[in-house]
Amino acid sequence: MQRPRLALSFPRFCVRRRISALANGRPSSLEILGERYPTDEVTNITPAILAKLPLRLHTRPAHPLNTLRTLIESHFPDFTPLSSLSPLVTPFKNFDELSFPPDHPGRAVTDSYYINKNLMLRTHTSAHEVEVFRRGADKWLLTADVYRRDEIDGSHYPVFHQMEGARIFAADAAGMRAVEEDNARLRARLAEANIEIEDVPHVSGTNPAQATHDPVHAELVAQNLKLSLNGLMLTLFGGAGASREAPLRVRWIEAYFPFTTPSFEVEVFFRGKWLEILGSGVVRQATLDTANVSNKIGWAFGLGLERIAMILYSIPDIRLFWSTDERFLSQFTDKKITTFQPYSKYPSCFKDVSFWTAQDIALHENDFCDVVRDVAGDLVEDVLKIDSFVHPKTSRTSLCYRINYRSMDRSLSNEEANEIQAQVVDRLKQQFGVEIR
Ligand code: PHE
Repeated sequence: MQRPRLALSFPRFCVRRRISALANGRPSSLEILGERYPTDEVTNITPAILAKLPLRLHTRPAHPLNTLRTLIESHFPDFTPLSSLSPLVTPFKNFDELSFPPDHPGRAVTDSYYINKNLMLRTHTSAHEVEVFRRGADKWLLTADVYRRDEIDGSHYPVFHQMEGARIFAADAAGMRAVEEDNARLRARLAEANIEIEDVPHVSGTNPAQATHDPVHAELVAQNLKLSLNGLMLTLFGGAGASREAPLRVRWIEAYFPFTTPSFEVEVFFRGKWLEILGSGVVRQATLDTANVSNKIGWAFGLGLERIAMILYSIPDIRLFWSTDERFLSQFTDKKITTFQPYSKYPSCFKDVSFWTAQDIALHENDFCDVVRDVAGDLVEDVLKIDSFVHPKTSRTSLCYRINYRSMDRSLSNEEANEIQAQVVDRLKQQFGVEIR
């Protein structure tokens, strides 16, 4: 469901770059990674987000995300590593080519960032599956920044990093022999490790094989997926915590993704909690057909690097990955996972804003959060809706949000927080026509 997005947020851009602006303040075009793109009525990418595109944290030496990527790449040494594909993709590539239905919520402008209706920021690394399979790669790992509009708290950030891995085999007797050999090799290695796996059937009524697949092939490939990823979980989590007495516990759960079936999620029991680590499944044949490799069958997985790095390094807040503070950056050494030593935590500054929304302009929670992020950058720690009601007589909607401003690097003064808050309020009035209460 696409909501109309009525207001946009680029006044500063227009002045600085002298680009003609339309009546509502949106520039007629945007320069992104050296190219110019026209905007239109769905454009919702903000300057704060645009500023992230060139940063590519997953390629910075010693950065935790880079170290984690390297660790996963060395676990799969014969997989082709890729990490420099552009984040700009068509909605067709991000969704349609992967069999997402036309009404999938991920397509909404409230959930994803659009440059215009034909161009968006990828929301997941799966957006590149067809293209990479088409190049002829049959074992590959792809790391990239992905973008999703979301709430604001310590574990959500509108830009994060994913790693996609995939492997395909010839869908014939020789290909299946290769799968069986690989399965035997992986099984032997896991048998020696201290790991306890809770499994679900590879294929079931609720998690079916594909109609075009030989059920025996689908079973073997799903098994190869599980064995390969159980091995990866040992590499990532087996060192810390798992011992003779306490094995690493991994559990497989049936899942659903439009572009795989059967599909699974993997959770790992780590420091007393089950943590969701990745999504995976047997690649839909439609994807492979589009990529011109219809004679293959295989699996894919996708995992979030921040999620795993926060656990392994004990990094408490997702904003820290973007920190340029030496007290953060100097703690890390290339290719080594260490425990993050928090430097002092500075005080919070809470600011509330209560307002009536405009009758004719939709204000989604993610719109509110993008305004706050655009003004406050990483000085915002979380945003909480603390009140919402509809006036019984006028049927106007009243909302109240509490914004927690806190710098990770220094003490933020109350005056500075007030100034930021005043700008947030101005933007809400200008863009969304709210009336402050
Ligand atoms: N792209 C999915 C996500 O972002 C993860 C996934 C990748 C699932 C590959 C299945 C296969 O949630």
